[in-house]
Amino acid sequence: MKRLVSGMQPSGQLHIGNYLGAIKNWLQLQEQYECVFGMYDLHAMTEGLAPEALKKNVLETAMDYLASGIDPQKSTLMVQSWVPEHTYLAWIFNTLTPVSWLERVPTYKDKSQQFAKNINMGLLDYPVLMAVDILLYKAVVVPVGEDQTAHIELTREIARTFNSRYGETFPEPKMISGPGARIMSLVDPTVKMSKSKGPNHYIALNDSPEIIKKKLASAVTDTGNDGKEPKRPGVANLFQLLNLFSKVETREKFETTYHKKTIRYAEVKATLAEDISSHFADFRNRRADLEKHPDKVLDILREGSAHAQTIARATLKEVKEKVGLL
Ligand code: TYM
Repeated sequence: MKRLVSGMQPSGQLHIGNYLGAIKNWLQLQEQYECVFGMYDLHAMTEGLAPEALKKNVLETAMDYLASGIDPQKSTLMVQSWVPEHTYLAWIFNTLTPVSWLERVPTYKDKSQQFAKNINMGLLDYPVLMAVDILLYKAVVVPVGEDQTAHIELTREIARTFNSRYGETFPEPKMISGPGARIMSLVDPTVKMSKSKGPNHYIALNDSPEIIKKKLASAVTDTGNDGKEPKRPGVANLFQLLNLFSKVETREKFETTYHKKTIRYAEVKATLAEDISSHFADFRNRRADLEKHPDKVLDILREGSAHAQTIARATLKEVKEKVGLL
């Protein structure tokens, strides 16, 4: 079976952007690939998370993966910092990566603005460590959202550079993304949904039906263009969510009323809130169950990380021999 790597920065509860852009695809792909799903805590440190939050978030993220249906019998769940081979290989890749490549990465530019008081080396070096997360396991595919495109391209460039200097070692991984690759913020639909702007911008997987209803009710629809294409960003975002969470008939009904200019956004939002809530009903139950058994979740992470480490050690051994480290 070919290998797949993906994962997230543990930054608290996951939102529907994370779900639609990544996890939803993982659920299908875990049947076809040998999957390694990471909790990338060393990456999260670049944003200066407090120690307690960092610890708590790793467990929260693991619970979100499991409650979504990631099956630890089929897939490996690992914690990045528990497999120190990641940082070792990152140093080796650092010596192959021109600084100019990293300065060009759009997420570095964004994060330098967002964390203007803490533009640390880790922020710049972030994509090199991410290349390691993927190449250490010789993954051939990486299912992620659209915002990761530049990171995957850089991973491929690092693989090519290593292979041409030291001989064929790493496959060049392919990015996989689906129709939910870019979900926009509810409050500012010109930017992607993320947690950094505040809770009204996103719907968390674990939000209660009441909260989902409230957040959608205040979502921006920026009307004024009804009946025309392309739809304005807020309206287009609601339609994208209808496409991903509701029945085809429901979406078609609203498409018709949109084009006839009789659409009522309050009705669209109420319908969507119901469909999203029921989509995650099982998730909420499984999540509540897992919260009662954090030790079991930790066991899954320990076992998964130990398995990941056996793969990581073998790759690192091969790399060390090739680069000339005794
Ligand atoms: P992170 O933690 O920001 O996001 C996790 C995944 O969710 C996707 N995503 C979205 N998809 C659609 N719409 C959105 N609004 C949205 N927001 C987030 C992301 O594209 C991602 O797939 N650098 C990575 C973490 C990482 C990683 C890796 C991923 C570190 N090492 C190795 C894959 C393989 C990140 O910050 O994702």
